[in-house]
Order: sequence, then C-alpha cells, then structure tokens
Amino acid sequence: MRRKRFYGCYYSKWIDTLLSSGSSKECTLLSINESVKIAPAEGKLGVLIPGIGAVSTTFIAGVEAVKRGLGHPIGSLTQMATVRLGKRTEGRSPYIKDFVPLANLDDLVFGGWDIYEDTAYEAASNAKVLESSLLEQVKEPLQAIKPMKAVFEQEYVKLIHGPNVKTGGTKYDKALALMEDIKNFQKDNNVARTVMIWCGSTEVFHRPSAVHETLASFEEGMKNNDPEIAPSQIYAYAALMSGVPFANGAPNLTHDIPALLDLAKERNLPVCGKDFKTGQTFLKTLLAPGFKARMLGIAGWFSTNILGNRDGEVLHDPGSFKTKEETKLSVLDHILQPELYPILYKDLYHAVRINYYPPRGDAKEGWDNIDIFGWLGYPMQIKVDFLCRDSILAAPLVLDLVLFLDLAHRAGMRGIQEWLSFYFKAPMHAPGLYPEHDIFIQLMKLKNTLRWMRGEDLITHLGLEYYD
Ligand SMILES: NC(=O)c1ccc[n+]([C@@H]2O[C@H](COP(=O)([O-])OP(=O)(O)OC[C@H]3O[C@@H](n4cnc5c(N)ncnc54)[C@H](O)[C@@H]3O)[C@@H](O)[C@H]2O)c1
Repeated sequence: MRRKRFYGCYYSKWIDTLLSSGSSKECTLLSINESVKIAPAEGKLGVLIPGIGAVSTTFIAGVEAVKRGLGHPIGSLTQMATVRLGKRTEGRSPYIKDFVPLANLDDLVFGGWDIYEDTAYEAASNAKVLESSLLEQVKEPLQAIKPMKAVFEQEYVKLIHGPNVKTGGTKYDKALALMEDIKNFQKDNNVARTVMIWCGSTEVFHRPSAVHETLASFEEGMKNNDPEIAPSQIYAYAALMSGVPFANGAPNLTHDIPALLDLAKERNLPVCGKDFKTGQTFLKTLLAPGFKARMLGIAGWFSTNILGNRDGEVLHDPGSFKTKEETKLSVLDHILQPELYPILYKDLYHAVRINYYPPRGDAKEGWDNIDIFGWLGYPMQIKVDFLCRDSILAAPLVLDLVLFLDLAHRAGMRGIQEWLSFYFKAPMHAPGLYPEHDIFIQLMKLKNTLRWMRGEDLITHLGLEYYD
C-alpha cells in the first residue's frame, strides 16, 4: 500500500515518459518489484563539475588511479560497503555495488568549468593533495580535462581572480551558454546520462529572496541581472533545464530555493546538498549523538581549524566564512534538540573558527574542545585534534554522490534526496521538516532506501523475531 503511494508521487511521470517514448525503451526497464523500476546503467555517465580545484581533482585522479589498480577507493560506500539483507541469520550482505545497478567507474567521463585555465593535471599539481609520483601515472586523462569558461562574479567569491570566465550578456545569456557547454560535452563524449556536482568555491552568504520564489521570477531576475542570483544558481538552473541531476558540495544557497526545487520536480530530476560532511563536522556528527544517547550534558563546544589551501583562502573572506559558519553551527542544535533536553543543552556555547594558514596546504588541523557534564552536573573535558586531509575525505563523497544521484535518476526519483543526507553538513530537506544530522540515522536511511528500491525488507533493528 505504502509502495503504491510512493509510486504515485515519484515514479508515475517518469514511467509515463518512458513508456510513451517507444517500446524499445520499455524493454530496457529492469523490473525489480511491482513498484520500483530502475533503468540499467548502460553507456557512459558524464560528470560535470563547476570548480576544478582540490576536491574535484582529487576525486578524478582517484577514480583514474583506482581504475588502474594504483589504490583502493577508501571512504566510498558505493565501492566498499555492504548492505545487510533479511535476518541476521541469513548471512546475506552483498556489496552495495552488486546490490543496486550503479554506473561502472570505467564509464565515467569528466568535464568542468573553472575561472583558471589550468588543466585538471595542473590544478591537482597545484593543490598538492596527491603525490606527484601518483599524479604522473594518471597525467594523461587529467591533462585532457580543460576547464570550460566559468560563470563567475567577484561579488560572490571575493578573494580569487581568474581569466577563464564568460563575459558579456545577461545572467540569462550565461545560463544559455552553460546549457550549450553541457550539450557539447554530452555530444563530444557520447554520454548516455549526465550529473553535475558543484565543487566550486564557497560563495558569499545570501538568504533566499523574492527573485528565488518562482521559476518565472528567477528567469526574469536572470534577464535583469538581479544581484541576488549567484553563479552557482545559474549552473544549477542550466543543469536542471538540460535534464541533469544536481548536487551541491559547498554551503551556498544554490538550488535550495523554491524556483529551482520546483524545476527539479517538474523535470523529474533528483537533487541534493549542501556542503560535504568531512573533517571536523564529520567528527561532530559522530560524537554528539553519542553524548546525547547517554544523556550527557554539553556546556560548550569550541571548534577551530587551520588550513592553507585555496578553499581556506576563500573562507578568509567574512562573507564566504559566514556561509560556511551557518552550516557548521546548525549541526549541533539539530542533533542535540535543546528544546527537548533543556537541562543538558539549553546553555551550550558553540563557536566555530576557520583560519587561513598557508603552510598547512590541504592538510588541515581541526581542534575541538568539548566541555561536557555528567552525573549531578560534574564537568569533564574532551580534546580532539584531527590532523586530517580535507580533499582525501571529500573525494569518496563526490564519487558516491555522483553514482547515487545517477541511480536515483534511473529509478525515477525526483526532488530532494533526503537519503543522501549522510554526505552533507547541511542536508536539504522538505519545508516543515528538521534535517537529520545524526550520521548513524542517516546511514540507516540510506541503506533502507537501497533495500526499498530493490524490494527487500527494511531493517528496523527490533530483533524480537530471534527470541520467539
Ligand atoms: N575539502 C573538503 O573537505 C570540503 C568539505 C566541505 C565542503 N567543501 C567545499 O567544496 C568546495 C571545493 O573545495 P576545494 O577544496 O576543492 O576548493 P578549491 O578552492 O581548491 O577549488 C574550488 C575551485 O572552484 C573554482 N571556482 C570558484 N567559483 C567558480 C565558478 N563560479 N565557476 C567555476 N569555478 C569556480 C575556483 O577557481 C577553484 O579552482 C568549496 O566550496 C569547499 O568549501 C570542501
């Protein structure tokens, strides 16, 4: 019964389109159960990326390295994780990649835009995340990726300047130019499907405004060069108008506005965001649910970071930092629910700092000082010093998001994909809902969605059946 309702809201339009487009398409459907049908992952999958920087080149170089057997895709659920099916006694735990039909790494084709002309090889060399001995071995495919001219506005990212930008015309003309880029990329690479993932710099903080309300006001706004329309929104619009699912790895507002969410739904396209959950926030979403599970109080949580990559430089600007701060701060409130547990969390003092410190490059250091309290209010302290590598943590998330968004598209799912919250610091969610930040609930949601797609029982962890 529940499945049927889902079918009604997510799948019917997509299946109508598929069926009405000829019987040859009909037989490409892979029937899983009565309700969920997933088209096979045939042909090449184009991966379009605004922002050929540290994260995207570490991702692309990593995929090329894995394809050549030079390393393992560590950190990627689509490549390494299993999913338990049925009862614990059944011993059924296939790899996710064997359980759902995902695109093969060999079928990924990459392209993108950047304000700098550097090829992906040069950008990866500058980012200094991966060793040059590894980069040399994947030089050929990386060198072939030359960024297309970017849609860029200095007002939105203040501290970087590059020559490779589209000039002239309105924001609407630039959106049309991006659509032309997408079409040419698809044709030149003979791709069957495409996804877009924003790995560009963090834009200055903006709230949704009237121009973001409807598709008509958004298009009108682009034609009038409305300053409230950010470059990342023009990419998202171009993607959705081109039938391309869109993900946002940065904290920018981007497609989290009614105009673009309506467009995604109308075009039956899955979308997700915002801000990859790596580094300090990843640890926060591991630790905070643990304290809350044990009903331990938290008086203060002070987080500070030093990082020296280009992302760190961009975040040095207060406008871009404000965007990042918003997503980093919201996490604890949602996990701890102070309105339900005022004694434990009402007075929590939470601060986040990011300092640009060039000597560290991509090897960020994140300190957390956590003041917790226990039985009768007795205080304790926890210090976390995470010497992490930002892009090494982000690259597998990009891979999973690309493959899962493509899967969702082939499964006819549209609009916000809450099951991909697992990957984000500020998961997008339906109006009126609070976002789910607890990483373990997010993981359960993700795996249950995969089970649901394949007609397997959802796992509740109740477990009473073992003791009957
Ligand atoms: N590394 C992580 O762990 C992590 C985690 C969460 C979010 N992020 C976000 O991911 C994004 C990428 O991070 P990064 O470390 O690769 O940064 P980066 O500075 O190395 O790369 C970003 C690239 O985007 C380009 N760019 C900026 N505006 C553009 C535009 N309008 N069109 C096309 N290109 C544009 C820049 O020139 C730059 O080359 C940032 O927004 C960052 O905040 C990263």
